[in-house]
Amino acid sequence: MTTATSRPCVFALGLAAAWGLLAAGPARAQSGKADAPKAEGPSFARDVAPILVANCVGCHSPGRPGANRGKLDMTSFDKFIKGGNDGPAAEPGKPEESHLVLRVKGEETPRMPQGGNDVRLGAPAIAAMEAWIKAGAKLDAGLNPKAPFKSYAASLDDVAKANTAKLSPEERDAKVKEAGLERWKKANPELKPEIETSEHYALFSTLPKDRATRLIKSMESSLGAIRRALGAEMTNWPEKVGLYVFPERKDYVEFVRTVKQREVDEHEDGDADLKTTQPYVVVYSPPEAATESAATAAAPRRKGRSRRPEPAEAGRRSTTSLLTENVTRGAAAAAGAPRWLAEGLGGVVALEGRSGPAQKLRMDALDAFRRGWPTKATEVLAGGGDNVSPDEFHGVSFGLVECLTSPMFRPVFPQFLKEISKQGGAKIDDVVKDVYGVDRGEFLTQTGEWIASAYGGDQ
Ligand code: HEC
Repeated sequence: MTTATSRPCVFALGLAAAWGLLAAGPARAQSGKADAPKAEGPSFARDVAPILVANCVGCHSPGRPGANRGKLDMTSFDKFIKGGNDGPAAEPGKPEESHLVLRVKGEETPRMPQGGNDVRLGAPAIAAMEAWIKAGAKLDAGLNPKAPFKSYAASLDDVAKANTAKLSPEERDAKVKEAGLERWKKANPELKPEIETSEHYALFSTLPKDRATRLIKSMESSLGAIRRALGAEMTNWPEKVGLYVFPERKDYVEFVRTVKQREVDEHEDGDADLKTTQPYVVVYSPPEAATESAATAAAPRRKGRSRRPEPAEAGRRSTTSLLTENVTRGAAAAAGAPRWLAEGLGGVVALEGRSGPAQKLRMDALDAFRRGWPTKATEVLAGGGDNVSPDEFHGVSFGLVECLTSPMFRPVFPQFLKEISKQGGAKIDDVVKDVYGVDRGEFLTQTGEWIASAYGGDQ
């Protein structure tokens, strides 16, 4: 029962975040839509409609059973402005007498949006409604009053991006730092981070200044490799990416818990969300000196589980490599790439050709080949599952991507990446047919042969 009411709450919070950005200056954002209004003052399409779409329209639409509440119909502007049982929702020039405002402020009950008790519009959203009513409560010139709000409402992402775009570089940096510190504090309020910024990144870590400077420099230079692998489109972030490096696993766990609202897996040491308004990458990377004890203490079952001495344990991952892997993975995932593809790309871009961790992944892929490549690869392409161990999943993903970016397959890889991402990973058979001109069976045969010969020396 509680899940049903917690949904609008999430919207309200998202709104508050997006509108928090708006508060920074006069709203002159323009949505990306072709017929977007270019009004200077308050705009219904830009300032109000996105709020109604995200928080209200679902209940205030006739046609759906039980969804024409208070007879206030929000499917188009002309119906909305006519009002409901109590008359017009907005009194032009008089926000203090408008049901719309009175309801969202709770001065008229029931308060809107109706739902869980903790559902509230943020103050900036309410202020935007008031400003629009004060200015006359009109629809922007040139827009069709019979069209649904959605056809012209800027998405909240558009609003946030447009508002970021008009900030000065210093103001943007200040926002990134502020959001970053806020998140860091959730993971561990006792630990104070140092902040370093560069053209594309803002690094939050406990590293000594000189090491932090070196780290962010090497992240800038690894961006070239990421762009070559993913294309410029997927790496064109509107804001600096926050990079968080935690020296202790518990802080990493807490970060993912509070920021991403997810429990971490036993072995993972990095995560990313490059789709959110303040994009970030977070890793757990113990200081080099403490590596041995920290690594074994943090993952006690790792050694017991392995089938052979792990080269990965010998050559610990550098922080740059770990961050690069997660930036790549996060960028691919944000563009819609399926998990195996994002994962494999992260590994291929971040790991040195002959490094221990890369060799380990290759051996895992070869093991999977020997256990039956078509079955294993099919399961990985479908997203994993109970029959695929984490080692197999990583290995096969890495192997597939190394194969698809090898000279034989490379020429069409950008096309494959783009098409499969557009589908969000679905319809893989169609994409394979389209790009490689073969069916899935043949695709698996060829990739399997490549794995056997490249990793197994053809025996
Ligand atoms: C969960 C469903 C739901 C959501 C979400 C919702 N409403 Fe309502 N709304 C109702 C119901 C039910 C009524 C009739 C309540 C009553 O007055 O008895 C109502 C009535 C109203 C009225 C009074 C209409 C009239 O003339 O009687 C206004 C104004 C209103 N809502 C605005 C909003 C706004 C603005 C939002 C979004 C911020 C919103 N509502 C979100 C269910 C909802």
